[in-house]
Amino acid sequence: MTQTPAKRLYIKTYGCQMNVYDSERMADVLRPLGYAMTDEAEGADLVVLNTCHIREKATEKVYSELGQIRLMKQRKAEGGGRMTIAVAGCVAQAEGQEILRRQPAVDLVVGPQAYHQLPELIARAHRASGERLSADFAPEEKFDALAGSRQVKGVTAFLTVQEGCDKFCTFCVVPYTRGGEYSRPAGKILDEARQLADQGVREVTLLGQNVNAYDGCDGGLASLARQLAKIPGLDRIRYTTSHPRDMDEALIAAHGELPQLMPYLHLPVQSGSDRILKAMNRGHTADTYLTLIEKIRAARPDIAMSGDFIVGFPGERDSDFEATMNLVRQVQHAGAFSFKYSRRPGTPASAMPGQVADEVKDERLARLNALLNEQQQAFNDSQVGRVLPILFERVGRHAGQLIGRSPYLQSVHVTAPAGLMGQIAQVRIDSAARQSLAGTLVEESVLA
Ligand code: SAH
Ligand code: SF4
Ligand code: F3S
Repeated sequence: MTQTPAKRLYIKTYGCQMNVYDSERMADVLRPLGYAMTDEAEGADLVVLNTCHIREKATEKVYSELGQIRLMKQRKAEGGGRMTIAVAGCVAQAEGQEILRRQPAVDLVVGPQAYHQLPELIARAHRASGERLSADFAPEEKFDALAGSRQVKGVTAFLTVQEGCDKFCTFCVVPYTRGGEYSRPAGKILDEARQLADQGVREVTLLGQNVNAYDGCDGGLASLARQLAKIPGLDRIRYTTSHPRDMDEALIAAHGELPQLMPYLHLPVQSGSDRILKAMNRGHTADTYLTLIEKIRAARPDIAMSGDFIVGFPGERDSDFEATMNLVRQVQHAGAFSFKYSRRPGTPASAMPGQVADEVKDERLARLNALLNEQQQAFNDSQVGRVLPILFERVGRHAGQLIGRSPYLQSVHVTAPAGLMGQIAQVRIDSAARQSLAGTLVEESVLA
């Protein structure tokens, strides 16, 4: 008997790690329908763009990519084949029908809460009739329907624990694209984590737009982390992204007590100016943020700090920007992301007076980046000479080389036997660049 060849599925992922996770789950729900992943859009039977709406550039990229894919669809049709094009993610949620208008080659639009309906939507699109839009909110259903059957490669994995946001920062689209805060029940997360550990995962990153607002069990994220830490094989736990407002005492304490909780924290502050923070509706000041960092460092002195920054928010003066630079100098980051303010339709900040000229944004961004890069290099330099536990997760470019992760989320290049893949070994750090470290295996750890 001959086997039906697999249908080819191409998924392109934009935006945050929630989307990376969602893309994997889309592949999972489509697998039983005979779809297998391919690395090339050309010739694929189903192309899914999992999109991001956070900044204007992100959205425009999607439309230009769709232009390319439309041509591939035409080529496939000329050869007698059929390519189905689906737009998923936050642009799908935010723009819905508008996408079909701007790019008629698109067959279906599916919002982040409807991925479990993908098989049905695709079947419908193939009948070329009926509902083409699925963008309503019901996160519980999504997670229940996507539960089970998860296949992972590798020793690190994402695990979504929370979705959505009720904070309504005035610049941000997320509350509109992902809906209100929803936490998955802890029992379901623990089941999924056990499945991951059974497949060899050693490090799990808990995901949520406001992950530390997690309330799917008593005691919140700190309690969830403590329960996850009991799962044999799960040696490392991380979480992202956190909001300063939800960084509670219990979570800070957990950083001091749970060895599995890695000493790296992405805690966006956005600005160092209280005027701007207020206009952003962040609900914290520069001072409360700095006090928080002090408390976290008291609990876990070696914690590496990361964050997000926006320059050129409406009304940002030179003095406000200097306040941001000052805050950055005080925190000392191991890494961070910085963005030029992007005006998002429908958000309160887009209608605020005092929009900042692009040249000013460029200049501020360049200065901020220079400072952040300097801090990243300094942080990496400070690791030279230390011995760190490194989790090996992929092969390096050079023969005999493995690349692993330090507790501080740095990439570390090491000459090491292939058998150490997926293991944690002690490595002495020899040198540091801005994006990665190089080190030598400590002899005893090879024998262990
Ligand atoms: N929920 C997370 C992540 C939000 S999106 C959080 O609150 O931290 C990731 C980052 O994108 C934000 O932290 C912010 O720095 C940036 N961002 C969001 N909207 C933006 C906009 N309109 N312009 C520029 N940057 C933006
Ligand atoms: Fe956006 Fe603010 Fe919510 Fe983060 S906390 S997702 S920046 S609204
Ligand atoms: Fe982008 Fe949506 Fe994530 S807008 S950052 S993909 S939540």
